[in-house]
Amino acid sequence: MITVFGSINLDLVVAVPRLPTAGETVTGPDHQSFAGGKGANQALSACRAGSDVRMVGAVGKDAFADLALANMKSEGVDLSGVRSLDGATGLAFIGIDRQGENQIIVASGANARVEADWLSPSLSQGDMLMLQGETPFGEAEKAIAMAGKSGAKVFWNPAPVPMEDIKALIETTATLVVNETEAAEVAERLGIAPEPQQFVEALAAPERTVVVTLGGDGVVAGKGETRLRLPSPAIKVVDTTGAGDAFCGALACALDQGRPFERAIREGVAAGALACTVTGAQSSAPAKDDIARLADQIV
Ligand code: RIB
Repeated sequence: MITVFGSINLDLVVAVPRLPTAGETVTGPDHQSFAGGKGANQALSACRAGSDVRMVGAVGKDAFADLALANMKSEGVDLSGVRSLDGATGLAFIGIDRQGENQIIVASGANARVEADWLSPSLSQGDMLMLQGETPFGEAEKAIAMAGKSGAKVFWNPAPVPMEDIKALIETTATLVVNETEAAEVAERLGIAPEPQQFVEALAAPERTVVVTLGGDGVVAGKGETRLRLPSPAIKVVDTTGAGDAFCGALACALDQGRPFERAIREGVAAGALACTVTGAQSSAPAKDDIARLADQIV
């Protein structure tokens, strides 16, 4: 069982010829709206990959709430841990350029008021707790402490990287996933080398898997003494939004279901690549069979 303690957003997406620089306005045609939020995206992705998933988080009391929850509801994610709070649902304003690269600004809304206590009593020995960086740091710390007490394993994707002291959290994390930018930020805080392979070298441990995702260049990963570098399969990139979330969801599912380290990373890479081929963070989360098929082809 995977429990996700994280954000739920509605994504307002505009395709633009190029992403704006500071102070610049760019225009695109009509916007599209999609369910999003790193927590919700990872919950949906793990569910599509084949895990039982419970979402713990919050939406506001507004017109966006049902839209933000719709995909998780229809896919069978357990939403009993999602609360409806006064105020606004989290919103993400996303620009996507012609290469599929994105720029995201998030208005946290209800996500800023989620509480770790809402997890109780749902964590058990052998469960996995997934967290990201879009909910309050203090609550994430409490949630991780609760996971420790109940014997649940922590999967942390610190995106965005919190401003607070993250050292203790990393030490209690069983699976740490960052992209190159996040790796550089984490490395600076911990005083370790930011280069992906050295980052993995510094933090991988017998009880800790560390992954740095490299976009189109694949991933580097490590656990204990094992090191792995995998390329990304060749795909036509339409929209990279949610690719990291698809990676995390599929990887979490594979680990939750006991697949070996290398196979689990392969499935994450396959899911991340497939997620780039469709617009929208959740609409692009791939299904179990598609992940398995592409994972078999990664050499
Ligand atoms: O990782 C992609 C997500 O980041 C989007 O769905 C958006 O909501 C932001 O949280």
